Amino acid sequence: MKVLVTGGAGYIGSHTCVALLEAGFEIAVIDNLDNSSYEAIERVEELTGKKIPFYKESILDKAALESVFEVEKPDAVIHFAALKAVGESVRKPLEYYHTNVFGTISLLETMRKYDVKRLVYSSSATVYSSVKEMPVNEQSFAYVTTNPYGWTKIMCEQIIRDTCHADPALSVALLRYFNPVGAHPSGRIGEDPAGIPNNLMPYIAQVASGKLQKLSVYGNDYPTPDGTGVRDYIHVCDLADGHVLALRKIADGQGVYTYNLGSGKGTSVLEMLHAFEKASGREIPYVIAPRRAGDIAEVYADPSLAEKELGFKTKRDVFDMCKDLWNWQSHNPNGYTK
Ligand code: UD1
Repeated sequence: MKVLVTGGAGYIGSHTCVALLEAGFEIAVIDNLDNSSYEAIERVEELTGKKIPFYKESILDKAALESVFEVEKPDAVIHFAALKAVGESVRKPLEYYHTNVFGTISLLETMRKYDVKRLVYSSSATVYSSVKEMPVNEQSFAYVTTNPYGWTKIMCEQIIRDTCHADPALSVALLRYFNPVGAHPSGRIGEDPAGIPNNLMPYIAQVASGKLQKLSVYGNDYPTPDGTGVRDYIHVCDLADGHVLALRKIADGQGVYTYNLGSGKGTSVLEMLHAFEKASGREIPYVIAPRRAGDIAEVYADPSLAEKELGFKTKRDVFDMCKDLWNWQSHNPNGYTK
């Protein structure tokens, strides 16, 4: 089966490319490299010993997208290409709606034109941001979120569900990721955030490497065991494996399947910080800062549906996440920039 991966040079995309190639899938990648580097593709080739057909194009460019379908004739698509920074989405809502929503529509129209019936879509646990009851299962979906990025995920899920309703031959997996962290154990590919990281683990990694001075822990008065925010961290390689399982599921399926991809375990900011200190052997200075606007106390997955229907179970724990992140960070202090 040949899979077209949109956004395949990005953080989750590049790890998924490795997992797909190792599982025996053929792939091609389309990525405009706006927030990623071609170096990631070269390193995936180096890790797998396989050459990847690559197109530096935007999925918003319909003609370019069609010519990729024309040449590659994919059997399935995994759609990662999107903007993903919550704070930025509040400042630039139109850019987020344009890229994420139009991008998904452009892809669905092209799939229709070329009769491609299988799609795996990158959704997010952000669709659960208004849910109070933990853990969240796929039915907890509340159609409410706190920011434009989150709305694009809710909207794209709905656009895809409606498209599937209109064409019963479509077979789609909507994957709701919790907090992906860590890196490939080789240290060759990993997360390469532009500028100062917004997310916890890349920030901690840059404190450990001396690029940043100290972590601000956003709030220690949440109703959680140690007062700091609790999230469901998932190793990016486990997440990548989840895509392979989802692809196998939709290969013979029909309709829309929605799955949480998380570990099912909540871990606090301070627990993550201490795990990283242990894995890296470095002390991480921190201060307690006010809560970050829009944050919630805790969110973690009920991953039982993915386990039951896909056989998905995380294999890497918090220590593995920290060890592999530190391996990537210490060998690539400036990410992919040489
Ligand atoms: C964020 C996004 C979410 C996205 C996910 C991808 C927000 C509000 N949400 O989730 O939509 O799907 O990333 O992984 O940005 N923290 C600190 N100090 C920091 C950074 C974070 O204490 O410098 C804390 C946060 O308050 C939170 C936890 O660490 O409790 C995790 O934060 P983060 O990594 O930004 O992820 P989320 O906010 O869960």
